[in-house]
Amino acid sequence: MKIAVVGTGYVGLVVGACLAESGNDVICVDKDASKVRMLRRGQIPIYEPGLEEIVRRNKAESRLTFTTDLPKAVKASQIVFIAVGTPQGEDGSADLQHVLGVARDVARAMDGYRVIVNKSTVPVGTAEKVREIVRRETTHPFSVVSNPEFLKQGAAVDDFMKPDRVVIGAEDPRGAELMVALHKPFTRTGAPIMVMDCASAELSKYASNAMLATKISFMNEIANVCDAFGADVDLVRQAVGSDRRIGTSFLFPGVGYGGSCFPKDVKALVRFSSDKKYEFKILKAVESVNELQKRVLVKKIDAHFKGNLKGKTIAVWGLAFKPKTDDMREAPAVPIINTLLEKGAKVQAYDPEALKVARGIFGSKIAYASKPYDALRGAHALAVVTEWQEFREPDFVKMRKLLAEPVIFDGRNIYDKAQMKSHGFTYHSIGR
Ligand SMILES: NC(=O)c1ccc[n+]([C@@H]2O[C@H](COP(=O)([O-])OP(=O)(O)OC[C@H]3O[C@@H](n4cnc5c(N)ncnc54)[C@H](O)[C@@H]3O)[C@@H](O)[C@H]2O)c1
Repeated sequence: MKIAVVGTGYVGLVVGACLAESGNDVICVDKDASKVRMLRRGQIPIYEPGLEEIVRRNKAESRLTFTTDLPKAVKASQIVFIAVGTPQGEDGSADLQHVLGVARDVARAMDGYRVIVNKSTVPVGTAEKVREIVRRETTHPFSVVSNPEFLKQGAAVDDFMKPDRVVIGAEDPRGAELMVALHKPFTRTGAPIMVMDCASAELSKYASNAMLATKISFMNEIANVCDAFGADVDLVRQAVGSDRRIGTSFLFPGVGYGGSCFPKDVKALVRFSSDKKYEFKILKAVESVNELQKRVLVKKIDAHFKGNLKGKTIAVWGLAFKPKTDDMREAPAVPIINTLLEKGAKVQAYDPEALKVARGIFGSKIAYASKPYDALRGAHALAVVTEWQEFREPDFVKMRKLLAEPVIFDGRNIYDKAQMKSHGFTYHSIGR
């Protein structure tokens, strides 16, 4: 099929590359000319495992191209995906200006039937808004489809290639049939393609993210109660997770959730529910627990140094909001580092992929290490903020030698308490 994907960010680039990988001709559109130039040169603007290879392969085989020319891309395509950002607006609602603006531009460029697909995460009722705009701007026939994306950053290519499910919201069979056909190659192992009305499809995405955020905040609160009573959240987590009704995933406490999706999607769901006079009480609590949780690690650091962080140097391992991405949008590392700086501490940070992004956020306010052990040199403590694989089995003897004081604050519970003790570290973690 001939596909255009408008918005070539974390979602659009993965969707475009994966659709090209299954044999479609894909044009990726972005308004950011420098991003398009990079992609044309074969450079990938983000870090996402496996993405570079499929972009390179499909680009070389001319199935994947990049442009800033939206009208040309629309004219060459049967299906147009809208994958632009839906950032949080001032009142917590999703800001739809990019989505609706693209819908208008797509409609103006149409020269025949098109399927217009909302891939961006958008509040219930957006498909209807897009439909109205397109209807106003063109006399050509069209279908508007909601096709929320469930990929996880860090495993995005795999998630798109082998989805747990594909959700297609459609009000007419023509658009739905084309979308089902497009996704068939990705669901051969039996993952369901669920065709439903647009409102249900739109809500499915928010409900999934909100449920995951709820699990995280719930376990963070259990961890805090463990701390209060001297219980061990690892043991509690295993006991709880072995109940098949609950399951083991997303039960790991930490420094709070971040990223470009959970925080804004939780807020948006609260907000658009309130538009219908429904107060989403659980999610309001999920959000406030998460805000508090981002402070837990600094509280522990502050308590250890008896409220005096002036002149102390804290090494930070992990800046990205989660491993295997360079994304620092809403990353807990940001408030953690800012609070340490406010309290007079110095920060030496290391992250395998997010250093460039971090430089854009902190500038010269912190020091950057290009190797993990360099961050430890002379530091009075290490704070582990993101659980990258390479932090899991480090050389503890070397770490002890490099640190000025053998103190570790483990915001992700990646180390074994007994091992820490045997290596002579003072060790603080979450709920253990
Ligand atoms: N990041 C994720 O893990 C993820 C997962 C599922 C769904 N989503 C949703 O997908 C959407 C996109 O998220 P993202 O993380 O890819 O965002 P992003 O910010 O990485 O990418 C958005 C891209 O759209 C481009 N853009 C904006 N306006 C444009 C316009 N008018 N014309 C052409 N290009 C334009 C931007 O330049 C940018 O490159 C959001 O709604 C998000 O909630 C994200």
